Amino acid sequence: MTIQQEIEVQEEVFDPKIHLAYEAPKTRLTLSDLKIQGSATSTPIAATSPFPILSHEGILAYRRALFRRDVLHKCAFPAFPGTLILRNAAEHSTFIEDFWTHPETLRLVSDAAGVPLSIVMRTEIGHTNIQTSGRSLNEMIDSLSVEPDTTKIQLSDEEKAYDPLRSNSIIPWHYDSYPYVCVLMLSDTDGMVGGETYIKTGEGVPAKVEGPAIGHGVLLQGGEVQHLAARALGVKERISTITSYCAEVPGLYDSSFITNIRPYTDIKVLYKQWTSYRLEKMRYEIDRLQSEISQSPGGLDISAVETFVEDQINYLKRTSRQLIPLEQYDKLLEKFGKGELYNVSELWERAEKLPYFSECAISAHQWNWMPDSPLWYDLAHTQVEIRAGKELESQKGRFRWQKDRQFLMGDELLRQGLPELFLSWLDATGLYSMLVKMRTSL
Ligand SMILES: [Fe+2]
Repeated sequence: MTIQQEIEVQEEVFDPKIHLAYEAPKTRLTLSDLKIQGSATSTPIAATSPFPILSHEGILAYRRALFRRDVLHKCAFPAFPGTLILRNAAEHSTFIEDFWTHPETLRLVSDAAGVPLSIVMRTEIGHTNIQTSGRSLNEMIDSLSVEPDTTKIQLSDEEKAYDPLRSNSIIPWHYDSYPYVCVLMLSDTDGMVGGETYIKTGEGVPAKVEGPAIGHGVLLQGGEVQHLAARALGVKERISTITSYCAEVPGLYDSSFITNIRPYTDIKVLYKQWTSYRLEKMRYEIDRLQSEISQSPGGLDISAVETFVEDQINYLKRTSRQLIPLEQYDKLLEKFGKGELYNVSELWERAEKLPYFSECAISAHQWNWMPDSPLWYDLAHTQVEIRAGKELESQKGRFRWQKDRQFLMGDELLRQGLPELFLSWLDATGLYSMLVKMRTSL
């Protein structure tokens, strides 16, 4: 190993006194400021203004840790030409793990969010999006250096007039997979246009949250508020690193899904960490109720037990439904391709307009599509909730069923954030092959 390579693989030891530079956010937008009605799983603060997290030394140390060849080669994959994504960096970088899991860092993100937060899973520490030059993985890796690249890119007139609410946003309106995210900026944003987040308010008007400058972060309750990320233009390099959290609040269950994570992660790692994190919360709630019961001087509060049981059942169901068996998962991805997972809403809308839609849709029933699956009980339960006029939880936010037609298994699979199984079911109805034929004949 050359001296150069030896220097290259070293990273600093995280020291909050050197690497942190926290100042509390100047503004915290609440759900009520945004006229958004809170849910059973939400807490009051929706988003913060950008606030300092890392010192200059901290920024360089983080970048040095991230850009070690070992970390890049094990964690980075190209999402598009010019865009790299890094996952599971804490597994390969002690600095990154120590920074995000240090009590001081947890304290500052909790302070910003107004509630105590804990990291959902190790694999969700420091998810990093890198916008840089180069097309192939190696070209992109070679373009990165510890010192932030401050090269500006001349904007065209069209780019100067870019309006994320009218044009294509980098990530269109969505809810995050987990309740809270801390987005930390590792690049120089001087001269950058865009890069902000918009939240859909209760009145439907978008509210803007400024994007963070270098070393700054924003805290967003992204699992509870619908938001979009505006494209960032005018800079050559843009690197943001993101960690996801849930609230450590007694009795507050979180609304996480791993729908968007499954396709681009090592699901063997994800499934174990997901199950373990969900069980941890259940254990905490069981211990809490047991302690309340033993310390209560009076009789048992039966309604409290009922609420506890309902919450636990729903939480457990969500935990297991997200775990599509590995063998089935691989077969489904091989058959339909990853890209199709992102088209499911559009496919379903197009399918609804096909002649014989209803006849086809009911042809894939409990006797010929996954007959032993508990999803059939879930469908029946959701149909009962709809008849009772209840609001439904879904991977894409809460909604009321307002269509004239019956709520079908396709709707239930999308509600539960299971696009892989949706494609399987749509295929069993015969509708998928019709849609593919129409697509290929265009
Ligand atoms: Fe998001």
